[in-house]
Amino acid sequence: MTIANDQLMTIASPEETTQAPERPAISVPHTAVVHPPSGLSLAALVGLRPGRPPLTPAALLEVARAYVSVTAPNQGLFDSRSYELLELTDDFEVWAIHWPVGGQLELHDHGGSSGAFWVAHGSLHESALARHGGLRQRRVEPSNGVAFGPDYIHDVVNLGPAPVTSVHAYSPPMPGMTFYRHGPEGFVAKRTEYRDEPSWAP
Ligand SMILES: [Fe+2]
Repeated sequence: MTIANDQLMTIASPEETTQAPERPAISVPHTAVVHPPSGLSLAALVGLRPGRPPLTPAALLEVARAYVSVTAPNQGLFDSRSYELLELTDDFEVWAIHWPVGGQLELHDHGGSSGAFWVAHGSLHESALARHGGLRQRRVEPSNGVAFGPDYIHDVVNLGPAPVTSVHAYSPPMPGMTFYRHGPEGFVAKRTEYRDEPSWAP
């Protein structure tokens, strides 16, 4: 598999134009399923060893693609996004996300973690912070993915006619995510959701 240059992005820190918001009380409706360790040969996949630095975006894309075999196609059972935690180690985490028709996640960062997602079934539409400061749109087709560095900001939506499943990998595991709005003033942070909150999901 090759990774197109535009899939690996280095983006100016959002801290240049935004301020961290007060930590709000939040409740995010979702359905989460936690799996036991998958049994995939992680060492063979990415050469992990204790103390290793965070995985690179390219390695995370390989991990996300490999974990497609661990999850199941979206059966359309939920009317909001649902989640499966496929793997959680000190170095990285892997989630499957099932997107109903119209399901989306608003503009967000990944708490300083690098990441990648791989579309297993269906296609997803992504708007991402571009180098010029605006938003860049693209559709991510099935059996394709996107890898990104720690400053990446994007939103993702299922604009298609059927549910979608994607697999997401992050390294290190995300401490939280900050959500943004995009307008004439640029990207403005709205709220941060933290991992230790009961409602946490990626
Ligand atoms: Fe994301």
